[in-house]
Formats: sequence, structure tokens, C-alpha cells
Amino acid sequence: MLRGRRAEREALDRVFAAVRTGRSQVLVLLGEPGIGKTALLEYAVDQAADFRIVRAAGVESEMELPYAALHQLCLPILDRLERLPRPQGDALATAFGLAGGGAPQRFLVGLAALSLLSDAGEERPLLCVVDDAHWLDRASAQTLAFVARRLGEESVALLVAVRETGDHEFDGLPSLAVEGLPPSDARELLSATITGSLDEQVLERIVAEAEGNPLALVDWPQGMSPDALAGGFAFPAALPISRRIEELYRHQLEQLPGDTRMLLLIAAAEPLGDPALLWRAATSLGLAPDAAPPAESAGLLAIGARVRFRHPLVRGTVYRAATPDDRRRVHGALADATDPVIDPDRRAWHRSQAAVAPDEAVAAELERSAVRARERGGLAAAAAFLDHATTLTPDPDRRATRALVAAQAKHQAGASDAALQLLDTADSRPLNDLHRAQVRRLRAEIAGLNRGRDAALLLLRAAEGLAPLDNQLARATYLQAFAAAMFAGRLATGTDLAEVAAALRAAPAATEPPRPIDLLVDGFATLLTDGWAPGAKKLGHAIRVSVGDDRLWLRFAWAAASVVWDDETAYTLGMRHIDLARAAGAMAELPVALNHLARLLVYNGR
Ligand SMILES: Nc1ncnc2c1ncn2[C@@H]1O[C@H](COP(=O)(O)OP(=O)(O)OP(=O)(O)O)[C@@H](O)[C@H]1O
Ligand SMILES: [Mg+2]
Repeated sequence: MLRGRRAEREALDRVFAAVRTGRSQVLVLLGEPGIGKTALLEYAVDQAADFRIVRAAGVESEMELPYAALHQLCLPILDRLERLPRPQGDALATAFGLAGGGAPQRFLVGLAALSLLSDAGEERPLLCVVDDAHWLDRASAQTLAFVARRLGEESVALLVAVRETGDHEFDGLPSLAVEGLPPSDARELLSATITGSLDEQVLERIVAEAEGNPLALVDWPQGMSPDALAGGFAFPAALPISRRIEELYRHQLEQLPGDTRMLLLIAAAEPLGDPALLWRAATSLGLAPDAAPPAESAGLLAIGARVRFRHPLVRGTVYRAATPDDRRRVHGALADATDPVIDPDRRAWHRSQAAVAPDEAVAAELERSAVRARERGGLAAAAAFLDHATTLTPDPDRRATRALVAAQAKHQAGASDAALQLLDTADSRPLNDLHRAQVRRLRAEIAGLNRGRDAALLLLRAAEGLAPLDNQLARATYLQAFAAAMFAGRLATGTDLAEVAAALRAAPAATEPPRPIDLLVDGFATLLTDGWAPGAKKLGHAIRVSVGDDRLWLRFAWAAASVVWDDETAYTLGMRHIDLARAAGAMAELPVALNHLARLLVYNGR
């Protein structure tokens, strides 16, 4: 039973009242672990008897499968997929792995999710409940945030619970801060929890230490012997409350038999909560059904249609308390218990977590998972798989090569620090010339993100290194050097625009006929070496060549359009570039594009 929380309940009631009149609402519940976000979501579900309810939750796990949570949310209404406009339906089907067909555009997936939820809301108001959003896979979180920002005149309520400390995508949406219970409610909750009597002083002490956190109030007394309760707590108050509660669970865990702890560990390592899978793995590790009751009677785990932990903090505690060796055994058993045809990626992930030493077969499997993740539009997931594949590659040369590919993926997914670390791995071996040049280029590109002054020089050197090896990449890199020099202006160190332009024109010729990107390169260089008129003529021609979805081309084409004062074209191309970068989840590129467009709008007085 929910105690207190009057203001919060009223906020939720207002959400439903508005949705019943056809105005969609979003509310993000923010707060620390155990503060009562899930409890409020349950309250909301109880109030929404006239709604259709769909739910999803993030699960703490290193594994990240693109769109897994969104799929979970949409599953009950997926029969409506065919009512969507064709491109949207196709994009969503690809994202969910129901159809093949190349990485779906993020933007289309977002639109499709929006259409699907709105459509379901037409029949009967729809309540979408998303718990533990700090653990959603990135692709799902971004899509849901996209949907949340665009809901309007439909009948959809979207409630999201997220830990305020975690990383999440839901900033800036209507939110409700969930804080500690006031002392009177805290006292009531505590008294209702404790069986037997407790003297006033101890009660007050618990209330004070729990800082109004309901989880602390409920679970502390349960995990404590009467002596400990009477004597106060063993956990230093300096730790944040969630850590103190984790200590408590750890203590409870230690009291359980070994087989039971092992069973809990399997459940903790298996994010799906599938009981059949749990028992297949458990049996293969020699565990019998009687391993379960002690965990259930301690209230830590419930095995029903789904496997559920008492609280998400229990799962994390169990996993972290286990020895690395036990964790590996459990992941190994889970890999064997997972169907290689239906769920190859989860299997690959478990196998990788089980590996003691580098193992080429496992690394290769992860590499295949990365390809699949990329095809479904999961750049972050692909990068995570590749990163892991690198670690598990036994052959040092191959490892270096994989590290380079993983670094490129990380950089594209916006994790440039991780990319730099991988580049160190790539650099640790004598790479072939091409790879070395590619490493250099990526380093230069990353440097350009926060060291604008050197970027042009670094890119120029990288381009020169690439020139004899990969003409296309070299020319693209010259072009980036050029853009960096333009961006840095007179602040550039080590080189300047004129030098880069001269290098550009001296670079090996483009293929015949020249590609659109080569026309641009030539136009820019001519501008600087031969003057404005001949340069502008070439650039004007280059931006009229239509090239569809080539982001690299777009990036420079609309800069070219502004150089020749064709503002309308610059705006159109700029918008297109931004849409495409968003759709592809190219998070390293997007801020640059947005920044350029903003400047263009300022110059135009818009
Ligand atoms: N107002 C309340 N009255 C009674 N019990 C509550 C209240 N709020 C929370 N609880 C109980 O406290 C415990 C922790 O709450 P809950 O699981 O909702 O926290 P949470 O904010 O979702 O934490 P996490 O971020 O870890 O998911 C649960 O057992 C819940 O039932
Ligand atoms: Mg919760």
C-alpha cells in the first residue's frame, strides 16, 4: 500500500484526466534508488483501469541489444504494424529484427513508434509505463525520448521512471522529482513493516538514517537481527543510501546456501527473466529445484511466469558479489542454454563473458553480432560487440585490426574516449601502412572535436599518409583538413587554409568521371588557389549534382552553398544533413551540423 505521496498522486491523476480528454501527456519520475518511483508507477497502473497498458523496463546488464526495450513495449500492439505507412512499418520491423533490409533510419523508427502508439490510443486511451529507464538500450531510449517530445493530440500517457544519477535521454521533458517521505509517513511505513515491538529511540534512529527512503525503511529492518536493530546500524552513514542497502543485501546473501547463491547469480546474469532458460542453465550446473526456496523465502527472488528480483538493487548486488570465476561459469551455462538460431546475439554475449582467455571463435561470433546490430541501426551496440571482440582476439595483429574497426564504431556512436583507448590497442602492433594511416586519421578527427587549432594540421598529415594507399579516403581527409582550417581560421596552428588548398590540388587525381565529392574538393581548392570567380563557378556546379544520402558530401556541399551565397540551398542541404545524421545515430557529427545551421540562420537574420 502506498503511503503519503499526495502531491505525486495528484500529478499522476492530472495526467490521466488530460489523456482522457485526448491530450497526450508525458511525465518523467526522477529520483534516487529505492525512493519509490516504481511504487508510484504501480499506483498509476491501478488508476488506469480504463486504459490499455503496455510496459517495458530497462535491465542492468552490460549487454545492449538495439531496440530490445522498445520491442517489449510495443509487443502487445504490434498487430497494428500493417496499418502504418509502409516506410514506417518497414523501419520498425527491421529495428525489431522481424525483417531484414539494412539499418533503418532512426527518424523513421521514431515516427513509426509514435504512429503505432497514437493509433493504439485511438481505440482506447493508452498508458505506456517505462521503468528503470537508465538501463534502457540506447536505441530504445532515444526513440522513446523522440516520441515523448512529439506526443500531442492523441490519447497516450507515457510515464518514465529513471534514477536521477544515471545517464538518460529524458532531460527537458515534464518531470516529477520523487523525494524522501516526510518523517510522519516514514514512521508509519516503518511501524507497519516491523513485526513485534521496537522502542521509540531505535525507531527514530532508523527513520533518521533512512532519510525518508522507503526501500531503506522497508528492507533495513527485515535484514537485521533484533540485536542489530536495537543497537543501531553497522553501515557507515557516509555511504549513499543505495550502497548501504546493497551492503544489507550482501549480508543476507551470505546467509544462503551455495546452490541458492548460484541460482541467484544465474538469474542476475540473465536479463530476460525467462524461467525455462534459468532452469536449463541451472540444471547444467548441477543445481536442483531445491536451490530456489531459500531465495524465495528470503524474499530476494520470485520465480513465476517471469523471474523477478525483489528489487533491482538485489540483482546488481548478487552479480557484483560473485567471484569472477562463478560469473564466467554462469555465463557459460547461459550461453549453452540459449538458442543459437533464435537468439544468436545473446548467446554470443554470454559466451564472451564466459571466456577465460582470448578465443578466436568467440571473437568472430561477436563480430557477426556487431554486423547484425549495425544492420538494425544499433551503432552503440555494434561498438560494444566490437570492443569486446577486440579484447577476446588471441592473435595480436588481428586484435590490432579489430581495435581499429571498434574504435571507428565507438567514435561514430559518440564515445570518443573509448575510441582513443582502442586506438592505443591498435597502435600497439606494427600495423600495415594503410591501417596506420587510418589510425592517424581517426586520431586527427577525434582531436578536431576538442582541439580545433591542431586539427587541420593533424588531418593534413593523415591525408598525406593516406594518399598513396587509399585515394578516396585521402581525398575525404584533405577535405576534412580543409574544413578544419576554415573553422579555425587564423587560430589554426602549423598550417593554414592556403597550404591545405595547395595540398588538395596537388593530391592524386580523382577517378574519372569525378565523384560529386571530388568536384567539391576541386571547387574549394580552386577558390583559394585561383580566386573567387573560378572557384565559385566550380562549387556552384558541384552542389547541383544530386547525391542522395551521402553525409560526407552533404557536410561540405552546404558549406559550399554558403560560400557562394546560395542561402536557400545551404539551408535545404543543412537540414537534410541534420536529419540524416540523426537518422543514422551519428552522434559525433550531429552537433557540428547543428552548429553550422544555427550560424547560417543567424547570418540570415532568422
Ligand atoms: N509511498 C510508499 N509507501 C509504501 N511503500 C513504498 C512507498 N514507496 C516505496 N515503497 C516501497 O519501497 C520499496 C522501494 O520502492 P521502489 O522500488 O518504488 O523504488 P524505486 O525508486 O523504483 O527504486 P529503483 O531506482 O531502485 O528502481 C518498494 O518495496 C516499495 O514497495
Ligand atoms: Mg524501481
